[in-house]
Amino acid sequence: MKKSRLLFLAPFVFAGSVSSPLHAAEKLTYYCSAQEDWCQIMATGFEEATGIKVSMTRKSSGETLAQIKAESSNPKGDIWWGGTGDPHLQAAEEGLTVAYESPLNAEQNDWAVKQAASADFKTMGIYSGALGYGYNEEVLKANDLPVPACWADLLKPEYKGHVQMANPNSSGTAYTTLATIVQLFGEDEGFEFMKGLHKNINQYTKSGSAPIKAAARGENTIGIVFMHDAVKQAASGFPIKVVAPCEGTGYEIGGMSLIKDSRNPENAKKFFDWALTAEVQTRALEVKAFQVMSNKSATSSPMAPDLASIKLIDYDFKKYGSSAERKRLLKKWDDEVSVLPQ
Ligand code: F6P
Repeated sequence: MKKSRLLFLAPFVFAGSVSSPLHAAEKLTYYCSAQEDWCQIMATGFEEATGIKVSMTRKSSGETLAQIKAESSNPKGDIWWGGTGDPHLQAAEEGLTVAYESPLNAEQNDWAVKQAASADFKTMGIYSGALGYGYNEEVLKANDLPVPACWADLLKPEYKGHVQMANPNSSGTAYTTLATIVQLFGEDEGFEFMKGLHKNINQYTKSGSAPIKAAARGENTIGIVFMHDAVKQAASGFPIKVVAPCEGTGYEIGGMSLIKDSRNPENAKKFFDWALTAEVQTRALEVKAFQVMSNKSATSSPMAPDLASIKLIDYDFKKYGSSAERKRLLKKWDDEVSVLPQ
């Protein structure tokens, strides 16, 4: 396996490299905002393929953006891989990332390259997935609760204390939720929805997928998450059912960006190219990461949510990934929703 990966990567991983891939000083500081186990196999896989020593930090999308911004006068990270596209777009707009058009772009789906082109290639789309929620059917039954099917169902008073989502400041999943609700219902009605939902929320977590992990453990009933994160728990044997809300829903285009003025820019580009290969993207299945991959030849699982059968909104990435709009919506949520009593 290791041998074939080395052979496969040879044309672009090693060509033009000024130093041996096994040179001890070769390193890469990698910020990851996808699921922890996927982050890990990407780090070890890249080390095995290139000999470049990887130092990895996993943080949620909003948290990573904040870190890159805080470090911008003396950047420590080289590449940011994974996490929702909106904060990657914001980083691009704020000049925190650099443009790069990979030779691998020709193998990617149009939606991934379109996302990149919209930011002058200062970020790249790497996967996609629809937002929804999941619930623990045993906990639901034990509490005599009705089966939810729509966003509106989550406002029912009987779900008080049974719904969990992440905080949209730290989590890209939760920001996607806020932006989806605003796009689905309009801003005024959308914020009324978020206020109603707040009454039923038992906890705002830091990470986007935490609410469905808690539901899988029986510590929560309903988790608002990307559907692929709920499918992962179901595929791992937990009694989790996945819901595509009846009104329609938003989706993410996960991002990858090269950090400006980084210490190891050539190694970051190698990672960037490597991460766009079909072989590497197919490895997501090893950790039950069921996003739709950007590379057209990456293999997807039959368990992955079928985006074509889900009522998706035309999510406005340009607007909701813009620095001003993301900041404005988060401030409004902080000021008008998070402060309300529950
Ligand atoms: O767990 C995987 C995932 O849902 C990705 O699809 C997404 O980009 C990322 O997590 C978002 O994480 P967070 O909400 O913690 O920023």
